[in-house]
Amino acid sequence: MNIIDIIEKKKHSEELSEEEIKYLIDNYVNGNIPDYQMSALLMAIYFNKLNIDETYFLTKSMVLSGETIKLDKVKGIKVDKHSTGGVGDSVTLVLGPLMASVGLVFAKMSGRGLGHTGGTLDKLESIPGFNISLTDEEFINNLNESHIAVIGQTADIVPADKLLYALRDATATVDNVSLISSSILSKKIALANDALVLDVKVGKGAFMKDVESATELSKLMVELGKKFNRKTKAIITNMNEPLGKAIGNSLEVIEAIETLRGEGPKALEEISVTIGSKLMHMCGKTEDEEEAKNILHENLRNGKAIEKFKEMVKLQGGDISYIDNTKKFELSKIKCEIYSNESGYVKEIDALEIGIASRDLGAGRLTKEDKLDLGAGILLNKKIGDYVNEGELLATLYTNKEDVVKDVAKRIEDAFSFSDDKENYELILKEID
Ligand code: URA
Repeated sequence: MNIIDIIEKKKHSEELSEEEIKYLIDNYVNGNIPDYQMSALLMAIYFNKLNIDETYFLTKSMVLSGETIKLDKVKGIKVDKHSTGGVGDSVTLVLGPLMASVGLVFAKMSGRGLGHTGGTLDKLESIPGFNISLTDEEFINNLNESHIAVIGQTADIVPADKLLYALRDATATVDNVSLISSSILSKKIALANDALVLDVKVGKGAFMKDVESATELSKLMVELGKKFNRKTKAIITNMNEPLGKAIGNSLEVIEAIETLRGEGPKALEEISVTIGSKLMHMCGKTEDEEEAKNILHENLRNGKAIEKFKEMVKLQGGDISYIDNTKKFELSKIKCEIYSNESGYVKEIDALEIGIASRDLGAGRLTKEDKLDLGAGILLNKKIGDYVNEGELLATLYTNKEDVVKDVAKRIEDAFSFSDDKENYELILKEID
């Protein structure tokens, strides 16, 4: 077997065997196949595609390129979720405690934010003391004790994805559904959960720009998940405005805490409860998703969900006084209010622009090495469908960078568009089983 024959085969749209795909991944990870040959193959895959079996073998080989975390020592049914990357999206922080509150185990490996989308780990680290680097033993103990733990992905998990993703990024081959699916699913399969719900975002702030391509990606990921014997479903959700009203690390944690107390924005509650109800029903906790939704809405109001969040924070070394009193979170020193120059119903809030603006205020990274300002970000005062009078408050920004305030404030204002009529904003666009 050799790489040139494999490239040649894919160049002519021929199907690759499991052995060929395993050979590729093993030899790319150990350095025997150079980037230039893998780049040629990626481009051949980009144009000639992989079928479901090839995608499955690719995902499997990627999982086996590194360590996996077994959860057989954890009692109970383990559940997971994945979002393809949103703005103002703190669903993990709400969903996790909700799942633990109904007796499911939320074993989550999360990532950091890059570019205009935020990362759960950065958000959690805005709680002083919170430790995302648990050992496998601590992770398992915490899951057995409180049914919830969130950790960072270590370098040993799916090393093939790190190498391939960097190469795809540099060769314009990111946006191929098989390559995206194998990249996402390999990291999910490496952690042995029982059920998974994928939240595939669509819109300006998202990776997938239309429902058609999001549907193709969702269907492939659901099929792949099932091939690995993981109960898998997906929802396609609208990202034509940020999900919550808060964008930025501490701001999103505060908003998640409010939501866990039943006082958060409707959209954040709706997505968290929808994903949670699917997981509950898939795991046999309820007869149908409606029954599950009722239980979850209730747990956001009776204190059970916020208690689970506090348990997790305490077990992972965080200061729970911040959860009891969110005024303790220190926001960035410069606060600037942005007022509307027009009247009308909010039609859209460009989530990509808002994500970039928040990054430029210090809440996000341009490169992996950038240091974050955890107190920076944006609080939206209006969402799609709200009526705004000229001169009314649209949003407030927080930053420690004096030099960017004027420019970013203008960009936030420009991210809003208005119409004379109130438009219907559908949050959940499709469900894929
Ligand atoms: N997220 C991933 O983890 N991988 C991709 O390829 C795209 C988004």
